[in-house]
Amino acid sequence: MPTKRKEDRYELDPADGLRRELVGPWAQEKHQRLRHYVDISRAARRKFQGNSTFIDLYCGPGRARIKNSNIVIPGSAIAAASEAQRHSAFGEIYIADLDETNVAHCEQRLEQEHIQPVFSFVGEAETTVRTIRQKLSPSALHLAFLDPYNIQALPFSVIRTLAELPRMDLLIHVSTMDLQRNVKAFMANGKLDRFAPGWRERVEPAARNDVALLAVFHHWCDLIRKLGYQEVGDLVERVSGARNQPLYWLVLASKNSLGKEFWGKVSNVSPQQRLL
Ligand SMILES: C[S@@+](CC[C@H](N)C(=O)[O-])C[C@H]1O[C@@H](n2cnc3c(N)ncnc32)[C@H](O)[C@@H]1O
Repeated sequence: MPTKRKEDRYELDPADGLRRELVGPWAQEKHQRLRHYVDISRAARRKFQGNSTFIDLYCGPGRARIKNSNIVIPGSAIAAASEAQRHSAFGEIYIADLDETNVAHCEQRLEQEHIQPVFSFVGEAETTVRTIRQKLSPSALHLAFLDPYNIQALPFSVIRTLAELPRMDLLIHVSTMDLQRNVKAFMANGKLDRFAPGWRERVEPAARNDVALLAVFHHWCDLIRKLGYQEVGDLVERVSGARNQPLYWLVLASKNSLGKEFWGKVSNVSPQQRLL
């Protein structure tokens, strides 16, 4: 997939002079699900009396505009944290991104919303996750949102590191456009090894693209399951675009048995195809 240039990906927001991202209409739905999850998990958070965190390792600049429209939406960290603030705020917010400007602008926007305390980091998720992991309390309730553009930015080590914490819920966005187009190339060039180590045990390299894609995904879910997230396979939503083209999978991994119930409600945002 050709890499997008920065000027195609961002524009200046006249409201505050900071960067905002240009996104497809599906971003709204993605954030709506994140907000629902934050809302529905409020009682659990309340029990932890402030000993809770939200972690966004691919935070973006904290605001976006839907392409070809005037609709402006908050970024994931602002959406999640402001939703939590309405009833049971996160005790700590951790944001990170490869892009330094994104981190700085996301931080400023959290500040504008009086959201605190915020800890910010710049770098590849593979690195920032290790730094952040060291700071997280093992007794706290955590929610991490993983929203990279493509699977190359989501090595499995990121998930493995987060899963070391006993109460770590993960809401993961996997771009299927990227995988669908490039699955064979990723097999050949080794990029799939980082995303789904051991895929060769499960995936037939000569299979049709869509079959290979699904096999990779099943294998990846199995890897997550082995980290203690038993129900991950039941907690997948396929989100499609206006022409029904597969856009992404939104995956919830929760060690809490309530996760399934939460997802049942969250996924009612709009009817979507169940995948697994
Ligand atoms: C889909 S955008 C995130 C949007 C944001 N979560 C939201 O909903 O507002 C993906 C972000 O990942 C960042 N990124 C790309 N590669 C990365 C990597 N290896 N590690 C961390 N961040 C990365 C990009 O700079 C971009 O801001």
